[in-house]
Amino acid sequence: MTGERRETPGDRGGGGAPDVPPESSPAIRFDDVGKSFTSAGGRSTVAAIRGVSFVVGRATFVALLGPSGCGKTTILRLADGLLDCDSGRVEVFGAAPKPGPDTGFVFQNFRLIPWATAHDNVEFGLKGMPLDRAERRERTRHHLDLVGLRAFGRAYPGELSGGMKQRVALARALATEPRLLLMDEPFASIDAQTRELMQIELMRIWTLRRPAVLFVTHSVDEAIILADHIMLLGPRPGRVIESVAVELERPRWTYDARAGRRYVELRSYLAQRMRELVMSDPASEFFGRDHALPGGG
Ligand SMILES: Nc1ncnc2c1ncn2[C@@H]1O[C@H](COP(=O)(O)OP(=O)(O)O)[C@@H](O)[C@H]1O
Ligand SMILES: [Mg+2]
Repeated sequence: MTGERRETPGDRGGGGAPDVPPESSPAIRFDDVGKSFTSAGGRSTVAAIRGVSFVVGRATFVALLGPSGCGKTTILRLADGLLDCDSGRVEVFGAAPKPGPDTGFVFQNFRLIPWATAHDNVEFGLKGMPLDRAERRERTRHHLDLVGLRAFGRAYPGELSGGMKQRVALARALATEPRLLLMDEPFASIDAQTRELMQIELMRIWTLRRPAVLFVTHSVDEAIILADHIMLLGPRPGRVIESVAVELERPRWTYDARAGRRYVELRSYLAQRMRELVMSDPASEFFGRDHALPGGG
């Protein structure tokens, strides 16, 4: 998984006939993608990611693991079509990405409308779809039920716990029945116990629906327990360092996946790689780097 091999499946550029994506096109394809940001004053430019290439297959769960500042959120926003890349090419189901009902986005900080009920927050995401009012309500109820919030449709976000708010955000993202789910550290601000329950909930729902998922996290454990593949990102500018397959049997909530040898070995390997990445980053805030790695990482 490097930027070296560049596939050009036919001539996709230029105008002419509309691009009809083949059924076989993957959920996401990044081909040598770069993106820079200019500071507010316009004085400096930060290369957020450079030469990023990867593929997320349909119905596949991929975790994007990396230290903070390595471009994880940037990659999600490029996949959603909220941002345009500077170089390379991004495709979602074989076409240029654009925000819409086919892609669900779950943000770390929930982003619920505070003056709307849980029900209305979920229903809001359905507004652009060709559904009548009764269908919208039915779908909203169904998805609140799916995330275990049937009894809380009338509650306002301020009346809900962090875990419940994130369930509402998940229901909102799922309600359009997207083929692709983009999740940006969705459980990072939830307490450890609730987080584990949310992971199980997500795996259960994923098994029912099988959307492609690109799940951003900086937790090694979360990446292993959830994903089919883990992409490790290195910082400044962000790039894919390596990709590993997680060969643990599913469903992983029916047995203690964390106790198995495969899990323990993968965890130890990835944790070590993450440490190396953080410590070799000159812009890291980690002041202990001189002590933590003999010989200086
Ligand atoms: N809108 C923006 N304006 C300027 N710099 C940005 C912007 N978004 C991200 N960056 C910079 O790009 C780099 C990657 O950011 P981000 O994708 O948010 O990383 P991550 O999600 O891995 O923490 C960081 O150095 C960040 O400061
Ligand atoms: Mg981020």
